Order: sequence, then C-alpha cells, then structure tokens
Amino acid sequence: MSLSPYASPVPALHREVKRRRSFAIISHPDAGKTTLTEKFLLYGGALTLAGSVTARKNQRATTSDWMELEKQRGISVSSTVLQFEYNDCVVNILDTPGHKDFSEDTYRVLTAVDAAVMVVDAGKGIESQTRKLFEVCRRRGVPIFTFMNKLDRPARPSLDLLDELESVLGIHAFPLNWPLGDGPRFRGVYDREHKQVHLFERTVHGAYRAPVSVKGIEDPAVKDAMEEATYRQVCDELELLEGAGADFDIAAVLAGKLTPVFFGSAANNFGVQLLLDRFLALAPPPLPRTSGGGQRIDPAAAGFSAFVFKIQANMNPKHRDRVAFIRIVSGKFERDMNVLNTRSGERVRLANSQRLFARDRETVDDAFAGDVVGLVGNYDLLIGDTLADSPEVAFDEIPRFAPECFAYLHNKSTAKYKRFRDGLQQLLKEGVASEFQLLDSGGAQVPLLGAVGPLQFEVLQYRLEGEYAAETRLENATWSIARWLRPLEGDPLAPEARPGLSLGTVLARDSNGWLVALLPSEWALKTFTDKNDDWLVSEQPFAPPPGMSKG
Ligand code: G4P
Repeated sequence: MSLSPYASPVPALHREVKRRRSFAIISHPDAGKTTLTEKFLLYGGALTLAGSVTARKNQRATTSDWMELEKQRGISVSSTVLQFEYNDCVVNILDTPGHKDFSEDTYRVLTAVDAAVMVVDAGKGIESQTRKLFEVCRRRGVPIFTFMNKLDRPARPSLDLLDELESVLGIHAFPLNWPLGDGPRFRGVYDREHKQVHLFERTVHGAYRAPVSVKGIEDPAVKDAMEEATYRQVCDELELLEGAGADFDIAAVLAGKLTPVFFGSAANNFGVQLLLDRFLALAPPPLPRTSGGGQRIDPAAAGFSAFVFKIQANMNPKHRDRVAFIRIVSGKFERDMNVLNTRSGERVRLANSQRLFARDRETVDDAFAGDVVGLVGNYDLLIGDTLADSPEVAFDEIPRFAPECFAYLHNKSTAKYKRFRDGLQQLLKEGVASEFQLLDSGGAQVPLLGAVGPLQFEVLQYRLEGEYAAETRLENATWSIARWLRPLEGDPLAPEARPGLSLGTVLARDSNGWLVALLPSEWALKTFTDKNDDWLVSEQPFAPPPGMSKG
C-alpha cells in the first residue's frame, strides 16, 4: 500500500496545528466588528491603545469609508488577515469587508476560515448582511459563535434575540453568559458555565481591559449592584434557561448547528475577554479537508497543500504587484519552497511570501495549516488554485456566487481600448466581477458583466481608472437572476434544443463557456423553472463548482 504524504499527522506539525484558530468576524455594518477586532488585538498585544485610537480617528475622518480605505492601500492590506499570539494560541483573524453591498470577496474569505464570530447589535437583532454571511458559514458547516454587542445601550429582550437566532437563522442558540440588564441599567454578565457574575464598571471609552469583579448571582453585592426589578428579571430568565434543560452540546457547535451566545459591549471592552477565552477553547483548530478526488488531507500531514482564496493586484501603487493570498491546508510552508499549481501543472517557487500587518509587510519564513500567507509577485495564480507537493491534490472549495446585478461596461476612450481590455482582464481574474456573453449576440460587443452587489462594479470602475487610466461608463442591464443550465445538445440554434424562454429572459455563456439563463425577476424565474426544471444544474445561490462540464 502506498503511503500518501497527506494521510497521517506528523507530531511536530500537529503541535503547531493544534494551537491555531483561524476565523472571520461577520456582522452587518456598524454592529461592531471593527471595534471587537480591535479589542481582540489588544488582548493579543498586537496593537497598542494609542495605535488603535489613531486608526479610528483616521477612519472617522474619511467620509466615504471604503473608497478612502482602498485609496490608502495600507488599510486594505492590513485587513486581509491579522495574526497574533494569545495564551499559546496562534490567532488568525480574516477580515470580511463589511460593505453595505455584498461582494464575492467577502464570501470567498469564508472558505478560508475554520470558525466565525457573528457580531449582532443587540438593539437591532439580526440584520440582512448577517443573514447572507451566516448562510455561507452554515452551508460549510462552520462553527459560529455569537456576540450580542452594545448591551450598554437599550437592547432587545435577550430571550427575543435568542428566538430570532432560531427563527431567522435556523440555528439553535445556547447562551454561555447572560446580561444583567441593558442600557443605563446594564450591570454586567452572568457566566452560566462557572456560575460567576462579572460586574460592569463603566470605564473611559476604549480603556484597556475593563475591570471585572467576580461573584455568584446570589452574592448580596450583585443584588445591590442593580435595581430590584432588573435583578428579579435576570433571576427569572436564568431560571427559565436552566429549566429548558438543554445541555451545552459541543458536537452540535462544531457541526454548525448550535451557536454559543455571549453578551457584552465591545466599545467598553466588556465581555470581550470572556468571549475570546471561551472561543479559543471551544473553536476547532484547522481540521482535515477533502481534496476534489475525495482524498482526506490531514492538516498536520507532511505533504504541503494550500489554496488561493483572494487575489489583489496593485496593492502597493509604487510597485505594480499582485498578491495572492493562500490558506495553508496541510504541511509546513517554507519560504522558497517549490510547489505545484495543480490546475496549470506548473511548478512555482514561493519566494516572496509575506504576512501583512497594517502598513508593514513582514517576510514569512514558515507557516502551518490555518495560516494565511500573501504571495507577492506575478505568480500565474487564479482564485481557487491549489498549490501542493503532489498533483493528486486539488481543492474545489471556492464557491462562485450567482450574480444579482448585470451591467454593460463601456470604454469611454477608443484610444485607450488596450488598457481598458487589459485592466478588465486582470480585474476579472481577481474575481472583481464576472463576464457573460449573450448566446445570440455574435461578434464583438461591449462586455456584459455580472456581480453579486453593485459595489463590485463601482470598485471595478474605480480601479480601472486608478490603475489602468481607463475611464468607463456603466449601463445597467435589467437582469437580476442567473441560473446555470445543463449544456445544449444537438444543433444549438434549433429551438427544440433549447429551454423555453419567457419575455425578458436570455441565454448566455459565462467565462468558462457554461450555459446560463439571465432572468429579470422572481416571477420570470418561476415561469422559467416551471417550464424547464430539468435544465437547472446549480444549487442556488451558488454558481456551479469548477469542473462542471462545459455547455
Ligand atoms: P463595524 O466594523 O461592524 O461596521 O462597526 P464598528 O466597530 O465600526 O462600530 C460601529 C459603531 O458602533 C462605532 O461608533 C462604535 O464605536 C460603536 N460601537 C461598537 N461597539 C459598541 C458598544 O459596545 N456600545 C456602543 N454604545 N457602541 C458601540 P461610531 O460612532 O461610528 O464610532 P466612534 O465614534 O464610537 O469611534
């Protein structure tokens, strides 16, 4: 029997893998993701208070948040991944850009994490963006930990918030701690596991580690700390929770079916350490992943493997370079190592490997499963590519999302056509948007693009202009839904070889040549599905995985 270098763990690697926690913080904009990240970094000693305050001030000074951040590349660089050590854990926080619009970029990042912390504004409950991000995590079975934030402000009743997790997101919730009041009456949290109370004492905004005192709920000091009514309500709620009798089931957490819930206030740094400590104890280290061929890849195996989940060009305007971000799945990364791109069959020397923190780039000499490394230079890599020692490993984990907006992109200046086309090709390669060709249009045409959110088009135009000096004009198209179809058979022009189309629906091919129906409305989709159910291939909202046969 031949022994695969990916099958069994090596003790030295196992020790490194075991202490890694790679996760994303997901939230609706303004729920407090940045604030929470900042506090986590304080615990890791990776950020000084002075640094964090300045960062926020700069951020606040900018009105149009995202574009400004992009302009000052430094910040978007920093936000790809932050790594720090805390209590013998190596913590990798991957940023999911919190734009108001959805972008594929965000979703792709979620393929590279092993867990997620979901931040919810307790005054607002579950909001739309959270729902979408949550859905991606759920489909991957990623364990999700919930932080109900902003308890220092009036919050929705805690039991309602739990109900909402169950009814809106369909995940069971298990509060590991419980808030003592909210808003001006917020007095702290009760740690249900250790039966201890952590009293909240208001501190200067953002001060390092809020002071906590620890007592049981029956302690007279706890009772005295709050109004009689709040105390009674908390006791009733706790009784109700205990009465519900459910045990904390870690297996359900790891399967993504139960979310541990924490309450606190990120801005006041209250409840953050409780969350971080429990999260690091309960969240999984990098786990085995399955390669396209069904082979199990052990994260601590000797064989190296990784996949590209994000590519960004021109991060540093001074050097027109590209950074391909890889998530290591197994083995040990060593600078200068020579690996195989299993898609192209080419060998690649990973010479320029960097870890990016704020504006600083630091050379990475070695890294392990769960870590993210930025490969700087003109590597011929695409999103979803696998780098490995051996050709039999190929991950197909990067989902492509069905676009929800479509537009034609006009080049404003004929003289700059080449720049326009080159720039567009590069940005499409990075996955900023995807291109479609209408089936019956014939000949050269204005590129038709699809994206999950309109912001992707904005970014595309902005970057074409900034990086390639190509000015463009966007002409919105009416379609809002794309459905992938099985290939056409026989004479593609014969009406009987095609699905029946209702008004406003057209057929197109994506950049891989796969057949797609573009539809203008849910109503059109319903009509289409009724008529052509046997044509549909992809499970929505995902586009088909790589490897689907060409149409
Ligand atoms: P995001 O990354 O999820 O978009 O949210 P971010 O952390 O930027 O927080 C959004 C706003 O919510 C910020 O206010 C932040 O201070 C505030 N916030 C975060 N956590 C808490 C909390 O626990 N309690 C309260 N009351 N507010 C919180 P801002 O006005 O935009 O900025 P700033 O002036 O407070 O810095």
